[in-house]
Amino acid sequence: MVLVIGHRGAAGYEPENTMRSFRRAVELGCHMLELDVHLARDGELVVMHDETVDRTTNGSGRVSGMETGELMKLDAGKGERIPLLTEVLDVFGGACDLNVELKGRDTSGPAAELLVSYIDKGAWKREALLVSSFSPVELKDFSELGTGIPAAVLIDGIPHGAEEFAVELGCAAVHPNHLHLEPDFVRTCHDLGLRVNVWTPNTREEMGRCLRMGVDGLITDLPDTALEMISLHGSDP
Ligand code: G3P
Ligand code: CA
Repeated sequence: MVLVIGHRGAAGYEPENTMRSFRRAVELGCHMLELDVHLARDGELVVMHDETVDRTTNGSGRVSGMETGELMKLDAGKGERIPLLTEVLDVFGGACDLNVELKGRDTSGPAAELLVSYIDKGAWKREALLVSSFSPVELKDFSELGTGIPAAVLIDGIPHGAEEFAVELGCAAVHPNHLHLEPDFVRTCHDLGLRVNVWTPNTREEMGRCLRMGVDGLITDLPDTALEMISLHGSDP
């Protein structure tokens, strides 16, 4: 089954990385939510893409320089506030799988500890979680913690060697940029037992091209379009 992974929730419809966006993605039928995490100054994991709050909220400043309380006062769009990772875990356990992207520095340890605590209390299944990062350091640190939570190597440019790094770390998947995806890479990854989830195809043409190459997941701002394209796949995506 090809997974539909809601990029920052349903970022094509709602303010990215907000509870509103995650609810919308689930309503649209996505199988997994994708979100980004940074550490606030007090060590709380907050759901935010950028290093600063400037682009996505009515505030300004670095996330790592602000206390959670300060971050919570900001408007992240349509009156939504920045979610804590714990809030997402509390609400969506059992409803949808979750891809946590370690975006900020030093997030691997706190994320591992938090996710394991949710697994231990039975609120999340280990296989329903997927931790990814562009940062080889965060990903290596995460894998060395031995949580058993599936992990994925994120790649931006041409993905030379990413599959070898993924195997070395014991990852379950690679997450390449769809713009650099080639059929040979997908085949090689599959031969190595790695799933291939691509980001961020948002047009029907982009999704169709990825599906024809045999990807395992579409990380997209438009989960409904992705579901439609997947249902067409096999006829003429
Ligand atoms: O995780 C896939 C995708 O989200 C990576 O790029 O910049 O949207 O975090 P970005
Ligand atoms: Ca991301």
